[in-house]
Amino acid sequence: MNILGIESSCDDTAASVLTEAGVLSNVIASQSIHIQFGGVVPELASRAHHQTISQTVEQALVEAQLAIHDIDVIAVTQGPGLMGSLLVGLSFAKGLSLAHQIPIVGVNHMDAHIFANTIEHTLDYPLIALTVSGGHTQLTKLNSSNELNIIGQTRDDAAGEAFDKIGKLLGLDYPAGPKMDLLSREGNPLFHAFPKGLINQGLDFSFSGLKTSVLYYLQDHDDAFIADHFNDICASVSHAITEVLVAKLEHAMQMYSIPRAVLAGGVSANSMLRAKITIMAEKNGFIIHQPALAYCTDNAAMIAATARVMLQNEPSIGIAQRLREGWEIHPYASQPG
Ligand code: KG4
Ligand code: ZN
Repeated sequence: MNILGIESSCDDTAASVLTEAGVLSNVIASQSIHIQFGGVVPELASRAHHQTISQTVEQALVEAQLAIHDIDVIAVTQGPGLMGSLLVGLSFAKGLSLAHQIPIVGVNHMDAHIFANTIEHTLDYPLIALTVSGGHTQLTKLNSSNELNIIGQTRDDAAGEAFDKIGKLLGLDYPAGPKMDLLSREGNPLFHAFPKGLINQGLDFSFSGLKTSVLYYLQDHDDAFIADHFNDICASVSHAITEVLVAKLEHAMQMYSIPRAVLAGGVSANSMLRAKITIMAEKNGFIIHQPALAYCTDNAAMIAATARVMLQNEPSIGIAQRLREGWEIHPYASQPG
């Protein structure tokens, strides 16, 4: 089965072709227009999607060396995400579907981050997922690939949001997460002990206290000191965030006696997090899959992969019926995914 994935939930326009042979193309057009505003501007995001979606899908087909009539299923992000951004991808996918009579499957963006791991691994269940993105920080217990229960989530900022907002305080461009990651590699993670919110309290997360603590720390130190220790401060912030993420995942796996997990979402590209997860898994004898870097941040291969999982789970529904299923935006489509 040849699946064309389309993703437009936030500020990346993405298209990918997935077949039995694997991912044949994974095209991502990232929007640089938001840098000057320090965050995603929804109206500009939907306009940029509108400008690039046609050529992005075209490029995905060209790279896959397939034509649209070779596509068996179109998979498109239905939410959560920014309403205007989602509508561009959905409308485009619907148009393609109607024009070429190709069945279409609506995919949940958060599920897709998790099932990005199916691109390179066969997953066994039950399984715990730690999903860390710009809009969400969630621990999910998967009893099977179609029974997902959220067992922990952030009470305020998401982990990626914490990286981005703290990076902004430090004067870094949006999105600051990847830049913080690079700078942290040159710094001392134990330079300053920033707070590790809720680290020993249940499975929920909180990162807003860390953000405030960094703000006060910067106000209390002069510019020369901050410049001299910039990488150490970045490393100490990254340490605080990643310690909490690893401790909560370990706690969830021990609490539910589930020795298997996957990491998911944009922050799963973070090198300090990946290294600590590997050490934690080895210490406990756990199997924890981490997606390849190309499948951590928003991409359309994960959307196609999720449609494949959904179709494996519900063959009785039949993909043709999905053409007639509801096209409404996902109920919680108002927050960035
Ligand atoms: O999953 P994603 O691409 O989009 C959402 O669904 O939100 O995640 C984007 C988030 C941003 O907050 C970005 O700063 C963060 O992931 N991120 C990182 C890294 N790469 C992306 N954070 C820390 N280290 C990274 N290497
Ligand atoms: Zn995402």
